[in-house]
Amino acid sequence: MRIMHTRHTMGFVARGITMARFTALMACGLLFGVTSVQADTRTQFNASCATCHSAGVLGAPKSGDKSAWAPRMKQGMPTLVSHVKNGYKNMPARGLCDDCKDSDYEALIRLMAE
Ligand code: HEC
Repeated sequence: MRIMHTRHTMGFVARGITMARFTALMACGLLFGVTSVQADTRTQFNASCATCHSAGVLGAPKSGDKSAWAPRMKQGMPTLVSHVKNGYKNMPARGLCDDCKDSDYEALIRLMAE
């Protein structure tokens, strides 16, 4: 009976450690969650908008070119987002990012305009 009892205790301790590890992992996940917002925007940018906005293909305002973006930013974010979604002059609708949400477009536009 004593042995049974010890085993039971060991199992409990082992589970306790697993929980602690799990909690630590969760904490890491949360930290990464915060930083990956920007990383995702970068990834989306590289996979879509960068095709034209890196080098200014077809007359696209270049990413990081504040003076090129300033007059466009004046139109306001809702107009800019709708231009990307519906297409605008030489820019195809959705800007090659089919799974981008409005909030993603906003983040991408801010990234390019800065
Ligand atoms: C195939 C090329 C191409 C891709 C890909 C592309 N764009 Fe563009 N984009 C353009 C061009 C060209 C213009 C300039 C249009 C004009 O004013 O003549 C432009 C303009 C814009 C503007 C300004 C619109 C305005 O009203 O002045 C925004 C905002 C924009 N792009 C966002 C994006 C975002 C966000 C992405 C990625 C999801 C993207 N673009 C992907 C070509 C592209």
